[in-house]
Amino acid sequence: MSNLIFFGPPGAGKGTQAKKLVAQMDIPQISTGDILRAHRREGTALGKKAQEFMDQGLLVPDDLVIDMVDDRLGKADAQNGYVLDGFPRTVPQAVALDELLAKRGSSISRVLVLKVPDENIVARIVGRRMCKECGAVFHMEFSPPAVDGVCDSCGSSALYQRADDTEEKVRVRLTEYAHNTAPVAAYYAQRGIVREIDGVGDIDEVFSRLSAALED
Ligand code: AP5
Repeated sequence: MSNLIFFGPPGAGKGTQAKKLVAQMDIPQISTGDILRAHRREGTALGKKAQEFMDQGLLVPDDLVIDMVDDRLGKADAQNGYVLDGFPRTVPQAVALDELLAKRGSSISRVLVLKVPDENIVARIVGRRMCKECGAVFHMEFSPPAVDGVCDSCGSSALYQRADDTEEKVRVRLTEYAHNTAPVAAYYAQRGIVREIDGVGDIDEVFSRLSAALED
């Protein structure tokens, strides 16, 4: 079974690569960022609590995110594998995930770490546009929609820039990553399931490297 974690700094391409892989493998992409943004749009209690942290580029408290992931992993479509995108993001989240999976007689099979230097990250983040309707991800320079302002996937003209996709916020997110998230890779390293992937290059090139890392 493929229980995968896509790991890396903000803007490394986790969501972009996860979407390509899940389309091929018929397993779900479980993005904690996407789930939290859906809660915000729906105005749930969780969405309201998460908002103040997300808007500042800070991590949402562990307990809120862990319960949310527990719930998502229990859904029918996640019983034959999944790509976790943006979770776990702290060592306590990784420990909690191990406990949740052990209860289900399961474990993580591979952690794929996308390596991208900070200077590339900032350019990727500030140029990103997302589709409000279907979640498709574009970049104004590196992967623009075929028709300006129109989503290639669903035809909607609701492309938008995330509120946390400014240069100022991305610097905060990178600091959060260095302090709280990077140590998670070391947590998994001793199991021999971590693979590092050069995340610089065009999207298909990175996908080839990632696919090869899943085979070895
Ligand atoms: P989240 O939504 O998870 O954001 P993130 O980790 O910061 O990651 P991004 O979505 O920004 O980047 P990505 O790696 O998916 O890159 P993408 O493929 O889009 O989290 C947002 C917030 O939610 C957090 O700050 C926190 O507050 C909260 N949160 C979420 N999970 C949490 C958790 N577990 N615990 C606590 N809080 C949590 O690519 C970026 C851009 O680059 C796109 O425009 C894309 O087109 C372009 N691109 C992609 N690949 C390439 C390439 N190879 N070459 C050129 N451009 C490329």
